[in-house]
Amino acid sequence: MTLPGSPQVAYRSDKLMLDDCAVADLATRFGTPLYAYSRTAMLSALAAYQQALAERDHLICYAVKANSSLAVLQTFAQAGCGFDIVSAGELARVLAAGAAPSKVVFSGVGKTRAEMRQALDAGVMCFNVESEAELEALSSVAVQAARTARISLRVNPDVDAKTHPYISTGLKGNKFGVAHERAVTVYARASALPGLEVVGIDCHIGSQITEIGPYLDAVDRMLDLVEAIEATGIRLHHLDLGGGLGITYTDEQPPSAADLIGALLQRIDARGQGHRKLMFEPGRSLVGNAGMLISEVLYLKPSDEPDGKNFCIVDAAMNDLMRPAMYEAWMRIVPCRLRDEPSVTYDVVGPVCESGDWLGRDRPLAVQAGDHIAVLSAGAYGMSMASNYNTRGRAAEVMVSGEQVWLIRDRETPAELFRGEHLLP
Ligand code: LLP
Repeated sequence: MTLPGSPQVAYRSDKLMLDDCAVADLATRFGTPLYAYSRTAMLSALAAYQQALAERDHLICYAVKANSSLAVLQTFAQAGCGFDIVSAGELARVLAAGAAPSKVVFSGVGKTRAEMRQALDAGVMCFNVESEAELEALSSVAVQAARTARISLRVNPDVDAKTHPYISTGLKGNKFGVAHERAVTVYARASALPGLEVVGIDCHIGSQITEIGPYLDAVDRMLDLVEAIEATGIRLHHLDLGGGLGITYTDEQPPSAADLIGALLQRIDARGQGHRKLMFEPGRSLVGNAGMLISEVLYLKPSDEPDGKNFCIVDAAMNDLMRPAMYEAWMRIVPCRLRDEPSVTYDVVGPVCESGDWLGRDRPLAVQAGDHIAVLSAGAYGMSMASNYNTRGRAAEVMVSGEQVWLIRDRETPAELFRGEHLLP
């Protein structure tokens, strides 16, 4: 039985499999909570983008924030992928994973001068600049360092991505980017400032987008700008359309990367802009469906009342996977071994001392204490958003490919959690 999302996640008889590995065996071998990823699923998600753009000058820059584990970055770097980073920390990670700095773009509304300097020294391909003030700062840092910062302006195209308000970024009220109306003026300023070289233009309208329409609106608005900016004599080598393509958590039917890019290329070609280098910054759609969070059922706590809540208390919590608590995100929860028993409706909750600590509500499950469950589609914004709340060490991580399994991150120990803290004298 296959599950929605990824062909690498399926039941073989009563066993939940990730590639050719039984998920319950991973749990027993490495302990829980445990993140597990299919390398095959990640690479095939990347290949879908690469193939759709094969005939064009292009660069896919994986948005590191979605999952910044070194082995994930290494997997993409080896497949020729570039990276979209948002901090010096992410810069250090991609370099440690073997990325080529010439394929790295640096995004984010609040880059510090120190971060700018580090990225300049590393030789990143482009800074995606989000405001005029940042432009001035970058110019002065570049001059001081006697270097040239290649820049693109992130334009806020003011389109509705029709997604959760917390992850919608291309509307006027958002903190992101330079207003569409101001873009031509800001490009003129950028080309006059010392230490800067204008190389492109970018936008990113939101995340978990499940329709093509908002992208088409955005590309139209961006192409209008490209024409207006180039009419002033400034040359834009690339057009970066950001990330945001959604995945299937429940019954969403997002377009495939091929369909999305096909539709965008049609628009771009119709405007005679097909020669321009195209860039994308996908995060979730490269890793989301490739991963799961595996957890052990600690206790079942049935309600005394007929219509009361039954709780399934597991050893993973909001600190391991923040999306349900933070966005009320619905993520599929399935048992790692199917039982021939009637299911009971549970709220699946963790051990953290907060009522907001839940992973799923009203889920029918046939499980007993000691069983393992998996939260699916947890490859994106799972581990990368994990915290140490309640002094809980972060989970271990494994990568699988076929029957092969690699431990890619050790479980964090309590001693590691307070390393760097000091008692008073
Ligand atoms: N580029 C920029 C400039 C971004 O801000 C983001 C995501 C991406 C690319 C990648 O977007 P993606 O392809 O992953 O949708 N924590 C939230 C998602 C936050 C997205 C932030 N920006 C969640 O768990 O749903």
